[in-house]
Amino acid sequence: MSVNDIHIEAQNLHRIYTIGNSSLHVLKGVSLNVKRGETLSIMGASGAGKSTLLHLLGGLDQPSQGQVLFNGRSLFDLPGRARNEIRATKMGFVFQAYHLLPELDVLENAMLPAMSRFGACHMAARNRQRAMDLLEQVGLGARARHRPMELSGGEQQRVALARALMNDPEIVLADEPTGNLDSGTGDLVLQYLFDLTKNRGHTLVVVTHNDAVARRCDRQIMLKDGSLV
Ligand SMILES: Nc1ncnc2c1ncn2[C@@H]1O[C@H](COP(=O)(O)OP(=O)(O)O)[C@@H](O)[C@H]1O
Ligand SMILES: [Mg+2]
Repeated sequence: MSVNDIHIEAQNLHRIYTIGNSSLHVLKGVSLNVKRGETLSIMGASGAGKSTLLHLLGGLDQPSQGQVLFNGRSLFDLPGRARNEIRATKMGFVFQAYHLLPELDVLENAMLPAMSRFGACHMAARNRQRAMDLLEQVGLGARARHRPMELSGGEQQRVALARALMNDPEIVLADEPTGNLDSGTGDLVLQYLFDLTKNRGHTLVVVTHNDAVARRCDRQIMLKDGSLV
């Protein structure tokens, strides 16, 4: 395997949360790498630090110590603007709680990552078309003009998935994407998640409690007490 095959790499990540006088050492030196096009599941008990790790991999939070290399470049050595640009253009995020904006309709929510980018107004028609295509791919073409609150949880998560893919990211980071859904609904969301990421060559890192999800990934890791086991 050449170095270029490594898409994202964590080197000795520590994260200590400080609250008042007490501190909580959540990650205690986590190292891992994910190859381009690979799918990786992260499992572990509630509170084990899975979300913390995923946020660090995505540059959403800063480690107390250690590095994240994305395409060989250290995310946290970059200026904030450059890190934001990487996050906006090369990464897609799916969260357990969907995080859709209630005042926007489904199409606008899906388009959001493109709208916030410089020069996006020149490409409004193209972005709109791409968002519509993605909504159709997750089975929601007919719901484009609905508000999120008019959709079921599973449908809202499919909108969130379309949004995550809007900028055609290299990597998708998903944090318990079916955690709020019943198993049948969750299975459908997962089908779309894997179809639209793994089956198209995107790298996927998914935090999950679900063995079936983990088994669908190329590789599984388990976090316990802040370390990989
Ligand atoms: N911003 C924060 N400030 C203080 N403590 C936090 C913060 N985020 C998470 N924690 C704590 O860190 C631990 C790990 O949290 P988290 O990474 O969310 O775990 P998981 O996703 O595995 O359930 C938990 O004990 C949690 O309460
Ligand atoms: Mg979590």
